[in-house]
Amino acid sequence: MEIPYIEYFGLTEKPFSLTPDPLFYFESKSHKEALDHLTFFLDQREGFALLYGDVGTGKTTLSRIFLNSLDASLYNTALILNPIMNKLNFLKEVLKEFSIENDKLTQKKGLDLLKDFLLEEHIKGKRSILIIDEAQLIQNNLFEFIRILSNIETDKEKILHIIFFAQPEIVARLQGDNLKYLSQRITVTYELKPLDLEEVGLYINFRLFKAGSKAFPQFRDGAVKLIHRASKGYPRLINVICDRCILLLYSQSKNVVTKNLAETALKEQNITLSKEKGAGLSKIVFIAALSASACALLMLFWWEFIILYKTLFSNP
Ligand SMILES: Nc1ncnc2c1ncn2[C@@H]1O[C@H](COP(=O)(O)OP(=O)(O)OP(=O)(O)O)[C@@H](O)[C@H]1O
Ligand SMILES: [Mg+2]
Repeated sequence: MEIPYIEYFGLTEKPFSLTPDPLFYFESKSHKEALDHLTFFLDQREGFALLYGDVGTGKTTLSRIFLNSLDASLYNTALILNPIMNKLNFLKEVLKEFSIENDKLTQKKGLDLLKDFLLEEHIKGKRSILIIDEAQLIQNNLFEFIRILSNIETDKEKILHIIFFAQPEIVARLQGDNLKYLSQRITVTYELKPLDLEEVGLYINFRLFKAGSKAFPQFRDGAVKLIHRASKGYPRLINVICDRCILLLYSQSKNVVTKNLAETALKEQNITLSKEKGAGLSKIVFIAALSASACALLMLFWWEFIILYKTLFSNP
């Protein structure tokens, strides 16, 4: 479908699309820390890693960035995007991702094939990584099966490294009795956090630049602040709001997103602003501080006045 504002702003593509496109990857502090943790996990060569974060923080985007960052001559990679399936289908998916023949298999045959592949690759000096996205959806019996896969090892080390990307509810699940055996094996955990105010501004400009923007559309500071407040720094929500903002700009034949325009965009999407944390409190503190300073100043004047009075009118 032709997007009306692309030509109007001279863009090459949609700047705030909802697909996790690595081309638009913006490295926030938290995204960078997450990648550092995953690299550390690979160096450690044991256990599982868990990367979790709220809806729309960028987990799927990050999984792609991480996989792309791995040297293909050193790593085999497999990415399972949707783990709602039974054990056999899961195994077939893993085999398919590693480009291993996976037709008409029994579980036993599949496991043998995977084991042979992992050992051969290990001997060649190649490591194998399995990433499972949306891991909060994995059924308990599939978790158990995944643990079995992770036990494929040589005398010295594990040869399949498994990383879970998941929404935060996985943390509570892993603490339950049923999955304790697994949580004890998770050696690296990281929570992906939303963007801060400064990052939201940089993120918006970065995506515009990647979409071919020369100067416009432009987002004023007031608009960025509002978008940060409304989205709480979650990239997906930032995209939704920004896309609406530039659609509005286009419909009004303008090219600068002001705070007012951003407000209209939020209203149109029924996005309400949570009260600024501490805003009321800081106002009270400010007024109290101002009154206290005024009182102190008055008392000082009064004191000076009494001393002066005494000096002038007291008997020698
Ligand atoms: N670091 C980032 N740089 C650029 N875009 C990002 C980044 N993080 C997230 N996004 C954008 O935000 C949107 C949501 O990202 P993504 O799908 O990766 O989130 P998610 O955490 O996997 O969400 P969910 O919990 O729903 O699976 C996408 O449009 C993606 O392009
Ligand atoms: Mg995702």
